[in-house]
Amino acid sequence: MCGIVGYIGKADAPSVLINGLRRLEYRGYDSAGVAVLDDGHIVVAKAPGKVSSLSDRARADWPAERFARVTMGIAHTRWATHGPPTEVNAHPHLDQSGDIALVHNGIIENYRSLRARLESKGHHFYSETDTEVLAHLIGDSDKGNLFQAVCDALHQVEGTFGIAVLSAREPEKIITARRGSPIVIGVGEGETIIASDASAILAHTQRVIYLDDNDIAIVTADSVDIRDLHNIPVTREIAELGLDAAAAEKGGYAHFMLKEIHEQPDSLANAIRGRLDFNLGAAVLSGMGTSPRELAELDRVVLIGCGTSLHAGLVGEYAFEDLADVHSEVQQAAEFRYRNPILGSRDLVVAISQSGETADTLAAVREAQQKGAFVMSLCNVVGSTIARQTGRGVYLHAGPEISVASTKAFTCQVAVLLMMALKLGRGRRFSRQDGIQFAREIERIPELVAEVIQQNDHISKIAEAYAHNEHAFFIGRGPMFPVALEGALKLKEISYIHAEGYHAAELKHGPIALLVEGTPVIAIACDIPGKDKTLGNIEECRARGARILGLITEGDDEAAAHMSDFISIPRCHPLVATIPASVALQLLAYHISRIRGCEIDQPRNLAKSVTVE
Ligand code: AGP
Repeated sequence: MCGIVGYIGKADAPSVLINGLRRLEYRGYDSAGVAVLDDGHIVVAKAPGKVSSLSDRARADWPAERFARVTMGIAHTRWATHGPPTEVNAHPHLDQSGDIALVHNGIIENYRSLRARLESKGHHFYSETDTEVLAHLIGDSDKGNLFQAVCDALHQVEGTFGIAVLSAREPEKIITARRGSPIVIGVGEGETIIASDASAILAHTQRVIYLDDNDIAIVTADSVDIRDLHNIPVTREIAELGLDAAAAEKGGYAHFMLKEIHEQPDSLANAIRGRLDFNLGAAVLSGMGTSPRELAELDRVVLIGCGTSLHAGLVGEYAFEDLADVHSEVQQAAEFRYRNPILGSRDLVVAISQSGETADTLAAVREAQQKGAFVMSLCNVVGSTIARQTGRGVYLHAGPEISVASTKAFTCQVAVLLMMALKLGRGRRFSRQDGIQFAREIERIPELVAEVIQQNDHISKIAEAYAHNEHAFFIGRGPMFPVALEGALKLKEISYIHAEGYHAAELKHGPIALLVEGTPVIAIACDIPGKDKTLGNIEECRARGARILGLITEGDDEAAAHMSDFISIPRCHPLVATIPASVALQLLAYHISRIRGCEIDQPRNLAKSVTVE
């Protein structure tokens, strides 16, 4: 996720800004930049890569006395969403005049139309970013009042923003505002710090003000004046952070994994935002670079990946066949690359990879390209090797995933695959009305996940009864079968319990021999086709003494009667239900691991990205 730091107050502002960016490095980024006001002019330093590269660049390009005398500036770590991670695309961005600098977190959905309008007025752009368009829009709106110019510009924006803006024409103030992307203001002694995350503020003060959506503030070294976007004054309390640096990096959560689980309503909203067309009942995934005819002529979709990404592909397989009526299959990437796959130009290969660096998946992509297939990727990291190798596909916009155990990336992968299937389906037999209905179901996903997350305490209590077994079985049918596999993987990789996922009908073909009194069976028995058969499989397990933890559709008392314990999942489309169900199992695995005292974010033997065969 991008990081913002703004500072106004005492000397040596460049060092304060760069050190603030260092406190945000854990969030993941791929370039950085800083803009300061010196002697009436805006001066900018930017660099791809790490904050250390930015620091080196600033110290090389700027005279030492600038560090000493400058008292205000803004800085940014960029996690690329629009345009690769280059110096040109790094923030801060300037307006046409060069007198206004801006850093921005979020996504401006209508930036293309805004850019076209500004270009028609003679504006010239250097980067591929939506942020530069906003900087020019502010400059274009500036009639001598920076605050009003920012308000006028933000009224024209569709999408999300957390911004900090400074102007050479109005020194001694920074304007900051937010909609959908956090901004916190640290109130110090004779200095004020603006940041996207409290961890950048801790070194200066524990006294903070959190902006709410559509708040905009005029910040000086000694004052914070908060208004709404219609210039109506707003009162926001000063809070005491009460956090140390380590806790602040995790947003106050005990682990990155728990933070990332709780981020999922937002990360899913980001993955879905701007990608559903409710008029046509279709999905808008321009990165796929495909024409309707190319999609209509596809014979097959082949989904490849490893681990959790492979499980996302297995859910996608059901979606492509159900919605797009196209043959779909899933291949483990390492197996695919060596099996001499039969592929042709009417096969769409989708490589799924959070990191975009998994060696086996990259090799499988190259093999598929060698065979002449239509290859694209579904990655989270912009500009990653797999994303560049395919040159087309869809980014997750999930934000950096720090914890080794994948959570928000998985649910965003599934959400994007559902949209891909909708896109293919609407180019085939899926009707407009069905498409609108399914798009509405996809739109509900963030709220469905939020409802499950609200059961965190309930799930934590249930976990107590399942934390001390050394074996566990996860079972499901239909699209919930891959959810069972993913739930088992989550549990085994962070709690070291030997957990296995099976199709519900498969236990009686052998694995049921392992059931003894008290063996935990986590059964996904949501109210989707096949539920009654799954309830029958649950009875087979109960007859052998198993303890059943069920995922059931809320209000399904019939299913609840079969369970020792249960977690309720909101009623929704069976394919959509895979996402809230997965979140419930993420929380279950997290709490079981916590109770067992395991290392959660960096489990033994595991790496976040497996860049070797
Ligand atoms: C999942 O929790 C693991 N971290 C692992 O299975 C991971 O999904 C797999 O290594 C694939 O990684 P990728 O998505 O970055 O390609």
